[in-house]
Amino acid sequence: MKELDGRVAVITGAASGIGRALADECAARGMRVVVADVDGARIEEVATELRSRGAQVVGVPTDVTDPAQVERLADRTSSEFGDPQLLCLNAGVAAGGVAWELDERAWRWVIDVNLWGLIHGVRAFLPRMVDEEEGHVLVTASIGGLIGSPGMGAYSASKHAAIGLAESLREDLRLAGSAVGVTVLCPGFTRTRMNDSARSWPDALGAPPDGGLAPGHPRLREAFLARMTDAAEPVDVAAAALQAVQAREFWAVTDREIGPRLAAHLAPVLHGPPCPEGAEPW
Ligand SMILES: NC(=O)c1ccc[n+]([C@@H]2O[C@H](COP(=O)([O-])OP(=O)(O)OC[C@H]3O[C@@H](n4cnc5c(N)ncnc54)[C@H](O)[C@@H]3O)[C@@H](O)[C@H]2O)c1
Repeated sequence: MKELDGRVAVITGAASGIGRALADECAARGMRVVVADVDGARIEEVATELRSRGAQVVGVPTDVTDPAQVERLADRTSSEFGDPQLLCLNAGVAAGGVAWELDERAWRWVIDVNLWGLIHGVRAFLPRMVDEEEGHVLVTASIGGLIGSPGMGAYSASKHAAIGLAESLREDLRLAGSAVGVTVLCPGFTRTRMNDSARSWPDALGAPPDGGLAPGHPRLREAFLARMTDAAEPVDVAAAALQAVQAREFWAVTDREIGPRLAAHLAPVLHGPPCPEGAEPW
């Protein structure tokens, strides 16, 4: 989707961090923007701030784990601005803990937001977008979706699933002859409020687990704090994501240091027995 000016964008998780930066960047490029977040008060502040800069922006409180709320978000987008050309499925949370110790509710919460949030978004919006002449879906995954790290089993599982869903969606759209493209955003450490995801812990799940939701593994905590010092800025991640959308590139990997690690990680896969002659890769 080369031209963004005048098009309609929807962004989930837009009250903070990368989603907020995507909202800023989309508005600055002349898009009409629907910003959505479970933090209803903050999302209204974001919408008001962007409108004060002259942008056309609507804020819609939305919990992406609830399919009815995501369907309402799609309806509201259509009634305000028409069906969107750019769908940014970005809302996400993190909970740290060794895989066999992490509280079951924390597992469910991370999968609910990071995976079911995407599924609800795809199911609510794609039927409205698939036959249009242009369109793009931006899925925020993570480098944690390419390589698992200790103490981040739930997060990593959800982000690997996000990449798998994005890849399948791209193929579904291609085989359906749709003009809609897909980009999967894989940021490395980025200076956001993700390390305070616990603020979005739903009341319905009761008290948060003892010990909180910070990365549990001491070595990961150290690595986390060390990497935070040279973390990327959300504005740079958002700009790279939109560049990939405009170039219709599937991958938007903003942490280039992942390359050699990924090559080493995948070497046994790449050098294993080849697929039988003529077989489809899937
Ligand atoms: N910060 C990083 O280092 C990093 C790295 C890779 C990927 N990511 C991904 O980027 C995305 C954005 O995270 P961020 O780093 O900007 O964190 P953030 O905490 O600053 O922003 C996340 C936003 O999602 C919202 N949210 C949480 N639960 C929600 C729900 N159920 N429904 C709707 N909104 C909800 C929060 O209110 C918040 O506004 C996430 O998918 C995250 O996994 C972040």
